[in-house]
Amino acid sequence: MRIDKFMSDTGILSRKEAALAAKRGELLLDGEKIPSVSLHIDPEKQTITYRGTPIVYRAFTYIMLNKPAGYVSATDDKNLPYVTELLPEAERRQGLFPAGRLDRDTVGLMILTNDGALSHYLLSPKHHVEKKYRFEAEKPLSADAEVRFAEGMKIDGYVCKSAGLCLNPDRLGGVITLTEGKYHQIKRMLEALDNKITFLERITFGGIQLDETLPRGGFRYLTDEEVTLLKNNQI
Ligand code: URA
Repeated sequence: MRIDKFMSDTGILSRKEAALAAKRGELLLDGEKIPSVSLHIDPEKQTITYRGTPIVYRAFTYIMLNKPAGYVSATDDKNLPYVTELLPEAERRQGLFPAGRLDRDTVGLMILTNDGALSHYLLSPKHHVEKKYRFEAEKPLSADAEVRFAEGMKIDGYVCKSAGLCLNPDRLGGVITLTEGKYHQIKRMLEALDNKITFLERITFGGIQLDETLPRGGFRYLTDEEVTLLKNNQI
């Protein structure tokens, strides 16, 4: 792989910036100056350092975002704020997109990646990847709510897969577990119970938990362990 491609894949430098950095001696290959960024390297055996920091090559990027309310789950929108706007330039250059949608007013765990195959797998209805949501409702949930969730709620003629419902003692909120993702699913499930969602936050996705230290609108890279957890859904 060419050195400039290596650098632009990591998102740290564009190809042009990599060429400039190499000229300035800020980018080194195994500690030596780089005559040309068109040089091919083997990232397994050789080390690139940028301003003294060794760069780890990753074919794909995986980011956890704590989505704030008001943002659409998209990479572009003419009128509304969209989630990739919350990322700095280096990350925006990497062609990241949200793995699955959250409604504009839903907050919490969103995975952004450029790994199309993994995203496709995680979202496929065939694979039943689990997601948990913390919610608050307008009024206490009816006495039959747990049973109806477990049996499969009917929303507009569609029978949902069995879902988990763990209610707080006041029955005004709790945690819902889904293994599918229909349009406005939780809101429609609550409507079917003659109730209304007033707050919705995704707290887990395929074994990954929302990092409580991330402020709304904040992001961080997934750890290697978290990427492995996500990929284990593929087994
Ligand atoms: N269900 C909803 O209704 N909205 C979301 O954003 C996610 C699940």
